[in-house]
Formats: sequence, structure tokens, C-alpha cells
Amino acid sequence: MARILTGIQSSGRPHLGNILGAIQPGIDLSKTPENESFFFIADLHSLTSIKDPKVREENVNAVAAAWLALGFDTEKNTFYRQSRVAEVTELAWYLNCFMPYSRMQLAHSFKDKSDALGGENDESVNTGLFAYPMLMAADILLYDANLVPVGKDQQQHLEFTRFVAKKINHHYQEEIFVIPQAKIDQALMTVPGTDGRKMSKSYNNYIDVFLAKKPLKKQVMSIVTDTTPLADPKDPDTCNVFALYSLLADDTQIAEMRKKYQGGNYGYGHAKNELLGLMLDKYADAREKFDYYMNNLPELHKRLEEGEAKARGIATPVLNKVRKAMGYL
Ligand code: ADP
Ligand code: TRP
Repeated sequence: MARILTGIQSSGRPHLGNILGAIQPGIDLSKTPENESFFFIADLHSLTSIKDPKVREENVNAVAAAWLALGFDTEKNTFYRQSRVAEVTELAWYLNCFMPYSRMQLAHSFKDKSDALGGENDESVNTGLFAYPMLMAADILLYDANLVPVGKDQQQHLEFTRFVAKKINHHYQEEIFVIPQAKIDQALMTVPGTDGRKMSKSYNNYIDVFLAKKPLKKQVMSIVTDTTPLADPKDPDTCNVFALYSLLADDTQIAEMRKKYQGGNYGYGHAKNELLGLMLDKYADAREKFDYYMNNLPELHKRLEEGEAKARGIATPVLNKVRKAMGYL
């Protein structure tokens, strides 16, 4: 049996890129009978950027509601808020004290983020942002995870995790930690945003399929297209609307829309309406469930609390092994 673990930042409401690039593949992976998945909301990591408790809470709820709405099975798997198993912060400290500062300084995610944030205000490039990889290592090591599905940008964090785990095992001459492996899916698609760049919260070019119909329609209508006149044939392969449609539609639907593009007398407005229709249809059930959880937060939180109790059951013995080895028990 493999234990799969991954963290999802609570930095905003999940968009179509998150759904197709992370949530759906994660749920698919969790369905393999011999796998056990630990998926958590990395709400402590989000404190490096989000300081407002209300905003963070809203994001946590939306992320959790999206996973449940899209069918994540919380009975078979373990789903929890990182902050509610606060043991992870204790482990992060132990790891910090073994991780060479010189190696942490090589973290490119810190460099990228601090370059981007530099000068915004004096706490934007904070020490938490620097220590971020050791909290992430603690997330992984605390649960004896074997496989960690992440994007390419997180690969170095996984290398740090393996490095510090081996260092501690070696130091105490004991197999305290399971050495995890990254699972990086190179084939995963990049979902384009309404402006054709990668869909991202930071570019404000996203489509939020959980929005009410009217604002969702507004987002779909804002997809950038060229100025080919309605009557003229159009090239589906250079069009954002077609690209998004192709990610959601089946082969027959894709072939039909391709023909309409090439046939002329088919405008981008028509294509956008078909895309909207497909989204509403494909996500009808998920949209209903998302609204249900967002309107029944006590039930959502109950599901998370059950996960947190399960997670703590795994975390405590692992942490005790570390405490014992280091002389804190
Ligand atoms: P954002 O860029 O909106 O801030 P995150 O960096 O929080 O998104 O990404 C969360 C997860 O969703 C990651 O696993 C990431 O790889 C995936 N993801 C985000 N945007 C896309 C996209 N446009 N296409 C495919 N996957 C994406
Ligand atoms: N750093 C990850 C990201 O930005 C989120 C994360 C936090 C994570 N802890 C983790 C991912 C542990 C995998 C395992 O996407």
C-alpha cells in the first residue's frame, strides 16, 4: 500500500485550472484501492501571504467544499486542515535545526517569491516564507508519506524533504522517517486563462465554475478572441474558447465545434455560449454540492474534524519517535 499525501494552499477560491490540473487528478489517484490518500489544506503556509483571518477562512471553506463537491471520498482517505494538527509546527522546528542554512538559501521558490514581493511592505518577505520548505517537509514526514504528487515548481522542496529526513535518520542511526518520493506528472495539461496565459489567480484570468450562472457567464464572455468577422471561417487551434472547450468536451463534441469554426457563420459568441452550456452541464452536480457545503459550514467542518482526528492518530506516534530520539520525551 502506498500512502499518498499532498497539500493544497488556501490562497483563493479554486478555479478551472486548479480543478483540471490538481483536484481531479488527485481524486482519480485516490480511487486506486491499494492507495491511501492524505490531502490537506495548507492554511499555515498561507499565513506567509494572507494575514486576514476572515479571508483565509473563506478560502479554506471554498477549497474544502470544492474537493468534496468533486467527489473526494473522506471515509476512505484523510482530509484535514494543516493548522488543526499543530504537531506539524513542532516537527518543523526540529527539521529547521538540522537543515543547513546554506542549503535553504538555494531555494528558488523563496528567491522567486521574494523578488516578486520585494518592497511591497516590510513583512511581505518574511522569515516564514524562507522557512516554508521545512514546514512542508514536516507536513510530509509527519504522516510517513510514500508518494507526494506536486507540480514541477515543488520538486526542490521534495529534495529538501528527503535530504533532511535522511540526515536525521543517519544522525540518530534509526529509521525515524519514511523517505518520500515526489510524483511529478509531466503530462499534466496547462489550462489557459481568459487571456490565453496560464490560468492563475495571480493573473486574474480565471474561470470559477462554482460561481452563480450570471457572473460565470460574464467570465466566459470575457475570453479574449480575435476580430475575424462572423461570416468568415475561423481557426480553432489558435482560439482560447476552443482550447477550453476541448479540455471539457468529448471527442464528438470537439469534432463538431471544429467543423463549425471552419465552416464560417459561426461567431465567437456562439462558441462561448456552448462552452458555458457545457460547463453548467458538466459541473451541475458539483456546483450544487459546492453551494450545499458553503451554505452548511458546520457539516463541512465536521467532515474536516473527522479527518483531523484520523490525521492526529498517525502523526502522534511519528512525532513521539522524533521526540524520543532527540531527548524530548
Ligand atoms: P494559482 O496559479 O491560481 O495561484 P496554485 O499555484 O495555487 O494556482 O495551484 C494549485 C494547484 O493547481 C497546483 O497543483 C497547480 O499545478 C494547479 N494549477 C494551477 N493553475 C493551473 C493551470 N492553469 N493549469 C493546470 N493546473 C494548474
Ligand atoms: N507548497 C505547496 C504548493 O505551493 C503546498 C504544500 C504545502 C504541499 N505542504 C505540502 C504540497 C506538502 C505537498 C506536500 O503547492
